[in-house]
Amino acid sequence: MMTDKHKHWMQLALAEAIKGLGNTHPNPTVGAVIVRDGQVLGKGFTQPVGGNHAEVEALQVAGDVAGATLYVTLEPCASQGRTPACTSAIIPSGIQTVVYASSDPNPQMAGGAQVLKDAGIEVIAGVCKEDADMLNRPFFHYIQHKMPWVIAKAAISLDGKMATRTLHSQWISGAESRKHAHGVRALCDAIVVGVGTLIHDNPSLTVRDAVIIGQPPLRVMMGKHAPKPFADCKLLSDEAPSRFYIIHDNDDALAWRELGMDVVLVENYEAAFQHLAADGCLQVLLEGGGKLHAACLEHCISNELLLYQAPLLIGGVDAMSFWHGTGVETMQDALHIANIQRQILGDDMLIRGDIVYPA
Ligand SMILES: NC(=O)c1ccc[n+]([C@@H]2O[C@H](COP(=O)([O-])OP(=O)(O)OC[C@H]3O[C@@H](n4cnc5c(N)ncnc54)[C@H](OP(=O)(O)O)[C@@H]3O)[C@@H](O)[C@H]2O)c1
Repeated sequence: MMTDKHKHWMQLALAEAIKGLGNTHPNPTVGAVIVRDGQVLGKGFTQPVGGNHAEVEALQVAGDVAGATLYVTLEPCASQGRTPACTSAIIPSGIQTVVYASSDPNPQMAGGAQVLKDAGIEVIAGVCKEDADMLNRPFFHYIQHKMPWVIAKAAISLDGKMATRTLHSQWISGAESRKHAHGVRALCDAIVVGVGTLIHDNPSLTVRDAVIIGQPPLRVMMGKHAPKPFADCKLLSDEAPSRFYIIHDNDDALAWRELGMDVVLVENYEAAFQHLAADGCLQVLLEGGGKLHAACLEHCISNELLLYQAPLLIGGVDAMSFWHGTGVETMQDALHIANIQRQILGDDMLIRGDIVYPA
């Protein structure tokens, strides 16, 4: 009975957290609810970087919280970061019990539960932990690997092609799929394409048909060299920030810098992803093309798959495949997809799941 009550209020805290999705990185996405005698006194969610954490938002709304219970989706932080430690707001407030879902994996911020217990507050951990962990997958992944959570997204035909042999690809998926993809873009911190896609498609990589709360995602191109500059490059628009990651500098890179592009020199492509994560881009949408997807699968960089499969056959040994690289040798080596979700979008099928690499 007690557990059901805690789950009920934690679900409300999770619903609060969802309001901040896509807008809190490099901080985790957190929600909080303060309850006394079955009444909600206050609720809130973590604000964009530098703003209040969820607990403080909820406390500010609630006013007098003597004897109340705080439900929060992540263990309250115990150290000063960009904002003061949440434990130092909770302890003097009169909150009697703190119930949280996920433990904080960040060694610099962890230990909040113990600090609260030492101050005489009752602490209950792990309520709705699985749901809360899912919300913060990119944050947890970054703390563990110093890499962003990478979603490999593509529109493909039934025979797995991303473009025809003439590199024509617009459009493979239908309007409903494209609208869905814009919703996913809005929740990501950066959208990445390879130099091939930049040259062939001149994509705008903006969010359309979906609401962005806060900053639009960073638009990113990766290539060994910067391509020859072209002034009508849509990434030069001021709708969203853009960046090129290149491995070798040259005059073309200089010309892009003069056009206003942020050009970052890295040692290799993995370093580009590490740089993105260190810069707060914890959830990255990889939008191709086939060579970039191949490299990111073969180097275990992509974490999640998002395929919009249209009822089309494109064919051709030279047509661009989703995994346009070496691939695996035997069926034993094939990558498996876990936690598969399927959804019909118009005539297309969305297939989403987690990429499982061999141990
Ligand atoms: N259907 C879809 O969803 C979709 C989406 C995007 C593009 N496309 C189509 O795909 C075609 C372009 O495909 P593409 O394969 O040529 O383009 P691409 O994958 O965008 O670019 C390939 C280049 O990206 C560079 N690159 C960037 N990051 C890399 C990494 N981590 N590892 C290795 N290389 C990396 C490499 O450049 P260097 O050689 O300089 O190292 C590579 O040659 C176009 O026809 C486009 O329309 C389709």
